[in-house]
Amino acid sequence: MEKNNSELYQLISKLDWQINMGVEAMVEEKNNNSPDIEKVKINKGELSKLDIYQKMNTLPLQEELDLSKILQQGIDKCLTLEKLKNYMLDFDGCDLKKTATQLVFSDGNPKSNIMIIGEAPGAEEDRQGKPFCGASGKLLDKMLASINLDRKTVYITNVIPWRPPGNRTPNENEISLMKPFLMRHIELVAPKILLAVGGSASKAILDIEGGILRHRGIWKDIRLSNSLTIPTMATLHPAYLLRAPNQKKLAWEDLKSIRTKLQHLND
Ligand code: URA
Repeated sequence: MEKNNSELYQLISKLDWQINMGVEAMVEEKNNNSPDIEKVKINKGELSKLDIYQKMNTLPLQEELDLSKILQQGIDKCLTLEKLKNYMLDFDGCDLKKTATQLVFSDGNPKSNIMIIGEAPGAEEDRQGKPFCGASGKLLDKMLASINLDRKTVYITNVIPWRPPGNRTPNENEISLMKPFLMRHIELVAPKILLAVGGSASKAILDIEGGILRHRGIWKDIRLSNSLTIPTMATLHPAYLLRAPNQKKLAWEDLKSIRTKLQHLND
C-alpha cells in the first residue's frame, strides 16, 4: 500500500515522539528478537539532531512496521485521565500543537453520564485552556440548561485538543491522527451517552458520510475497544446555530431526545 507524504510525516513524527518517550526500552523488553524493531532503534541524539523532514526519504519504512500500533500501545497504557492528558501534552506528532497556545483537554464532570464531543478549540478556548468557553460555548450552556444540565453534570472535550490556525476546520489527517486519543478518552470516562456536536465530531465518532443534517437526532450505538457500547447522537454545532438560528428547532428536538434518554438510563 502506498503512503502519501502526509501519512509518512505523521508516522515519522510519531516515531520521533515514541523515541523521545523511551520506546526503545519498552520495545527491547518485549521484542528482543524482532528484526523489524531492530531497524527502528535509532539513536535518540541522532534523530533529534537530524531534520525529520529529510529523514522521510531515508528511514526504512516498512509496511509491516506499524508505528500506529506503537502509538496505540502507549495510549492503551494510559489508565487515568491524568495520564492520558500528560501523554497528549508530550505528543509532538500533530502540527496544530505548534501554533496553539496550549492543550485544551476537557471541562466538566468526568463522572457524568453524558460526554459531549466538540470539534476543536477556538481562540477563547486556546486562551483559557477550556473547551467551549467562547461564543459557541455560551450557546451550548444555554442548550444544556434547557434540559437541566450544566458543566457539573456533563463532561466536555473535543476531537482535536489544539486550536487550528484561524479556526479552520481540522482536516481528515488531523482527525484520524487524534482519534485514538479521543477513543481512549471516551473509554476512560465511560459515559452512558455520547453527544457528537457538529460534523467533525460526528464523522470522527460515528464514521458518517455526508452532512450532519442527514444524521443528527438519530441514536447509534458505538462499540469501544473495551467492548463497552455507548448510545451516541450527532447534533448541530452551536457555532452553526449562531449562524443559522432558524435551525435551533432541530437542536431542540435533539435536546429533548437526550433528556428522554437520560431519564430512561436506569429503566
Ligand atoms: N467549538 C468546538 O467545537 N469546541 C470548542 O471547544 C469551542 C468551539
